[in-house]
Amino acid sequence: MTLRRLGRTLSDLTGQARMSPRPVPSPVEVPTLRTGPARILCVTSGKGGTGKSVLTSNLSTDLARRGKKVLAVDADLGLANLHLLMGVNPRRNIHHCLSANLSFREIVERTSAGVCLVPGPSGVAELADLSSRDLAFLIGEMGRIGSSFDLVLVDTAAGIARMTTAFLYAAREIIVVTTPDLTAMTDAYATIKTTLRHNPSALASVVVNRARSSRQGWEVFQTLDGIAGKFLGRRLCYLGYLPDDDTVRRSVAAKVPAVLLEPESAVALRVREISEILVPPERAAEDFPDMDDSLAQEARPR
Ligand SMILES: Nc1ncnc2c1ncn2[C@@H]1O[C@H](COP(=O)(O)OP(=O)(O)O)[C@@H](O)[C@H]1O
Ligand SMILES: [Mg+2]
Repeated sequence: MTLRRLGRTLSDLTGQARMSPRPVPSPVEVPTLRTGPARILCVTSGKGGTGKSVLTSNLSTDLARRGKKVLAVDADLGLANLHLLMGVNPRRNIHHCLSANLSFREIVERTSAGVCLVPGPSGVAELADLSSRDLAFLIGEMGRIGSSFDLVLVDTAAGIARMTTAFLYAAREIIVVTTPDLTAMTDAYATIKTTLRHNPSALASVVVNRARSSRQGWEVFQTLDGIAGKFLGRRLCYLGYLPDDDTVRRSVAAKVPAVLLEPESAVALRVREISEILVPPERAAEDFPDMDDSLAQEARPR
């Protein structure tokens, strides 16, 4: 079982492909999610430190605030820190799934904002190079637990090591986080190219983090979209930008996502825009009217 079969694309949900700059949702053609698999999005980047975990923690928190059932998976198997950004002190993590044969259900935690979190391992050397069998197990677990949620956000490691590409090649949607920095953009393009070469049906979206202005965010996207169009024959989707904002630094120190700590900050407002592009507001009340939410109840806040 692969994520490819389990994932959902925005085009599945809206009945039309997302093209830059903004999607136009088509509520009429929305299928019922219960008959389909979970929608799984991999948040990734070429270069490290571009803001994947900041985006994942804030986006998942905002989506939960809007009433969605959201699972965040920390798939940065080398330097997992999503739990820190979300204020969770996990009892167990993905390392225990592999070493003690536990399912994701057995290790899931719940943040105070209602996001379910599969915590990742930090500094466990043997996880830095997992076997194909282990990676397949993790992807299978993600699909199994994912079916209980509206959305699954997978926070990956940076780069194109097998540990990251295993998730990207299985996903239907990837969100590439870059900064305006030329090296980050170059590495973002390399990630997009590698992913689309192995996983041509994937929908690739871009978030520009630490942009000085909306114009700069748009220009960075246009550059990447232009190169992808020219050399890969593919269009990318623009989800938006996040400003460089001291709120992020304060929220990392406080272990509280910026959308909760300072909901009116510039960065929180931009996260909300991205959240509403991913799940348009008019659809928020329709999903999973009688979904099995036993898992969300099992994972009590800590
Ligand atoms: N928009 C932003 N404004 C200010 N600082 C940021 C912003 N995004 C990220 N940072 C800083 O960069 C650090 C790395 O971000 P993180 O999301 O952990 O990167 P990644 O997961 O891609 O390695 C954060 O701890 C934070 O201090
Ligand atoms: Mg990270």
